[in-house]
Amino acid sequence: MKNKNLNKVLVVDFGSQTTQLIIRRIREIGVDCEIISYSNLYSNIRKNRPKAIILSGGPASSFKKKSPKLNKQVLKMNIPILGICYGMQIICQTLGGKVQSSNRREFGKAEIKILKKNLLFNRIVFSKNNASQVWMSHGDEVVALPKGFDALAKTKANNIASIGNIKKNIYGLQFHPEVIHTISGKIIIENFLVKICKIQPDWKIENFLNRQIIEIRKKVGKERVICGLSGGVDSSVVAALLSKSIGKSLICIFVNHGFLRKEEEKEVINNFKKYMNSKLVYVNASKTFYLKLKNITDPERKRKIIGKEFIKIFEKEAQKIKNAKFLAQGTLYPDVIESKKIEGNNSKAIKSHHNVGGLPKRLNLTLIEPLRELFKDEVRELGKELGLPSNIIQRHPFPGPGLSIRIPGEITNKKVNILKEADKVYIDELKKSNLYNKIWQAFCVLLPVKSVGVMGDSRSYEYTVSIRAITSTDGMTADIYYFREEFLKRLSGRIIGEVKGVNRVLFDITSKPPATIEWE
Ligand code: XMP
Repeated sequence: MKNKNLNKVLVVDFGSQTTQLIIRRIREIGVDCEIISYSNLYSNIRKNRPKAIILSGGPASSFKKKSPKLNKQVLKMNIPILGICYGMQIICQTLGGKVQSSNRREFGKAEIKILKKNLLFNRIVFSKNNASQVWMSHGDEVVALPKGFDALAKTKANNIASIGNIKKNIYGLQFHPEVIHTISGKIIIENFLVKICKIQPDWKIENFLNRQIIEIRKKVGKERVICGLSGGVDSSVVAALLSKSIGKSLICIFVNHGFLRKEEEKEVINNFKKYMNSKLVYVNASKTFYLKLKNITDPERKRKIIGKEFIKIFEKEAQKIKNAKFLAQGTLYPDVIESKKIEGNNSKAIKSHHNVGGLPKRLNLTLIEPLRELFKDEVRELGKELGLPSNIIQRHPFPGPGLSIRIPGEITNKKVNILKEADKVYIDELKKSNLYNKIWQAFCVLLPVKSVGVMGDSRSYEYTVSIRAITSTDGMTADIYYFREEFLKRLSGRIIGEVKGVNRVLFDITSKPPATIEWE
């Protein structure tokens, strides 16, 4: 087959939680790629003519009747293929090898030994005993190889860790090279793409930008697009991208739900005027949101109510705008994966993210989500490319439902105001201490707990604020940021001294997992 898209890689999603990490690693290597669903795979590949195909992992068992299948034709197209976990198992299953359920499931770190010298394992890092650390997550295993395949690596327990039909350029890895705990994972993916598939790494954020501009123009035509603006990095980048693509056909709507940070609405409006060349509609709907959330304490209900109300307001505003056909949103990949899925994916829902989960079926606008495949740092890079200033680009992520999900229990106006003040002090102190840009996300949570204190000579009985500071690269996992003792003391003193209604400050020391970043 003649390759038209010389450097394009297709990643076939079989439903793994880490499919997007594969995309991320490929882009880090500088290669252009796209995720596609496993359904209609053959025709999709014929149409796209990729230079390589990577099959992701997934939760199914390849030997079960209802599991996602792989059209045998795909394996005969002379396109190099790398199957990861389920991807490797489905290659074996399709070509007549044997996959079965293992009596010892492997999760977490493991060590592999290379059996056969191969380009795939060129330059990988070994420990003293000639083993290389990888990350496994599987319950099934390959026990018999298809014709023409060799085992390229095994685990210490003698299980097959990698297979290959070198003549046909079809490879499989039982472990996950996309995960950072596989020490040489990125090198292995790079070996496959560059050494085996001979792809020239030439992908840059400008390419993504140019491709998006063309696609947005094509999709929108003469219609108008409404964009939900929150002032955060994601929605600002989407607005700037659309503004650049379609100019005046973009109308941004900024809904204030009442859970923004202190004076945030003013800041958002001013920034919009300064950096965008489109129309802005500002709707202050805080009263409605407070009313709808009265007596609601369950986090999922809060999220659902806010999401639903938000969209309702959008619809109402959209109806006032002639020819409005599209709704643009700054949905990022972590929102997509944690809310549910990419097409055909069975991964479990953790939270109903505001941008995705709350969309009612009756929505009359077609969604445009140009950042859907990007991680936060890539969005920041795109924002820079679009000319946005660093005070917008470097802003910490802020969730769609805003401060409402940082107030466990019932939300009241009084609590929101306390949290706004505490948050302002915290962010101010971080900036003064030159820590803001070292931290991925920092915020206060107002706990539904009052405790006794002594301030001056009097007894106090006030709320508790918990501070959170995490480091992360994509929001999918996070570690806590360790503050110095002096900083914590100073901050605690400032919050209690400057914020009325708080007499105790706690420091949240939980990573993600097991906790999530937000409290709700
Ligand atoms: P969690 O709490 O799920 O958060 O670990 C991961 C990242 O996503 C942000 N977040 C949201 N962002 N809409 C958003 O746009 C939402 O509904 C939402 N909920 C959480 C969170 O702040 C963190 O950066």
